[in-house]
Amino acid sequence: MLIIHGGTPLEGEVTVRGAKNLVSKAMVAALLGTSPSVLRSVPAIRDVEVVTGLLRVHGVDVELDGDTLYMDPTSVESAGVEEINVHAGTSRIPILLCGPLLHRLGRAFIPDLGGCNIGGRPIDFHLDALRQFGAVVEKDASGTHLSAPNGLHGIRYELEYPSVGATEQVLLTAVMAKGTTELRNAAIEPEIVDLICILQKMGAIIKVHTNRVIEIVGVDELKGYRHRALPDRIEAASWASAALATEGSVFVRGAQQADMMTFLNVFRSIGGAYEVDDDPVEGGIRFWHPGTPLKPVALETDVHPGLMTDWQQPIVVALTQADGLSIMHETVYENRFGYTSELRRMGANIELYSDCLGGTPCRWGRRNYLHSAVIAGPSKLHAADLQIPDLRAGFSHLIAAMAAEGTSRVYGVDRYISRGYENFEEKLLGLGAKIERPVTK
Ligand code: EPZ
Repeated sequence: MLIIHGGTPLEGEVTVRGAKNLVSKAMVAALLGTSPSVLRSVPAIRDVEVVTGLLRVHGVDVELDGDTLYMDPTSVESAGVEEINVHAGTSRIPILLCGPLLHRLGRAFIPDLGGCNIGGRPIDFHLDALRQFGAVVEKDASGTHLSAPNGLHGIRYELEYPSVGATEQVLLTAVMAKGTTELRNAAIEPEIVDLICILQKMGAIIKVHTNRVIEIVGVDELKGYRHRALPDRIEAASWASAALATEGSVFVRGAQQADMMTFLNVFRSIGGAYEVDDDPVEGGIRFWHPGTPLKPVALETDVHPGLMTDWQQPIVVALTQADGLSIMHETVYENRFGYTSELRRMGANIELYSDCLGGTPCRWGRRNYLHSAVIAGPSKLHAADLQIPDLRAGFSHLIAAMAAEGTSRVYGVDRYISRGYENFEEKLLGLGAKIERPVTK
């Protein structure tokens, strides 16, 4: 639990390191190499610890030195169900081990997945693609067992939806499958492009065509890589939104304009100000509230290059301070507005609708999910006791508590926020936030 005395603008500087949603996948890619890999700019977050544990039980030697991770997969070995199941329910990354383990060991065991509770989050695309590659998938009470009695062979596959994880699954499997794979309707998030860069450094042949088509020519062997992870654009946007909601000014060292163009457009439309410093080492983006009223906007989340679903929650908190009616239509996940009930208790005026408001009809409108939000601002937020429901929503609760008048207690910070935000308490203190941990006897 974190105690937050709100009402203080956040002022100062934070540094973002490698993106959680690339680093964890880059660690899985290291399994495919016949020699060690070195990954730089690794954040100290729990998802990295979870994947470290999973690699280690499979015989990979993993050492962290500062923010550099050394991974030696030369002695990869099968792990027992029990030692893998220690990591059940902690992350969604284990599903991505399927292809690399099938290539290296001929079989894989995947525990039940965890990750944020923001919708059904099925893995049907993953398993369907793996079966087409030639994997045999068997589920039992302990988890999912996979084997590849006849090896893995390239496929022509079209994703029903450009899923990030399923695209990564196909990439990590196709790079060493026999023959060529053509993936249509692929996700093309910057983290996926960075993963492709890593695989290319390892010796993979991957062509990214127009119209979401990726072609992968399977190779017999991949070597280790040296790579600096791209910066975390979700964390960067979280600090930017915190600066706006608290009427402060935050320089986010490491934030990159190219990966955040859509966010920057939205930030400007709301009335926020920013300045890009594109120095390759010291650069970043300064975000601030210019002192004039914030403007309402109609937005919808989408796959890249659209507005990221993980930017939605911090933006919504900032929109509670905009002067008028804003709309947020969530099209990626069916259930990503649960956190707004806590914001309502703080005085925010937010209504949820099952219609596709303010944008193109999406698959959730037909199925009656509350996936559009109307935010009427500006609202004076007041302190409350808040229960964090998931990672990104949790950071939004922190932002709301910092913007609110009075003292809030936020529960669940260790369970959720440390999964994806490195040293967030130190960073908050450095920005002048008045936060404290309860004194334990
Ligand atoms: C990744 O999740 C990220 N997680 C998420 O970030 C992010 O919100 C999401 O991509 C979208 O950008 C990681 O990278 C670890 P998807 P992923 O497959 O890959 C449906 C965070 O807070 N779908 O692109 O699991 C799915 O239900 C997290 O950092 C299927 O129907 O997301 C969803 O509606 C939260 N069947 C949509 O696709 C499948 O087999 C997009 O999911 C797979 C997905």
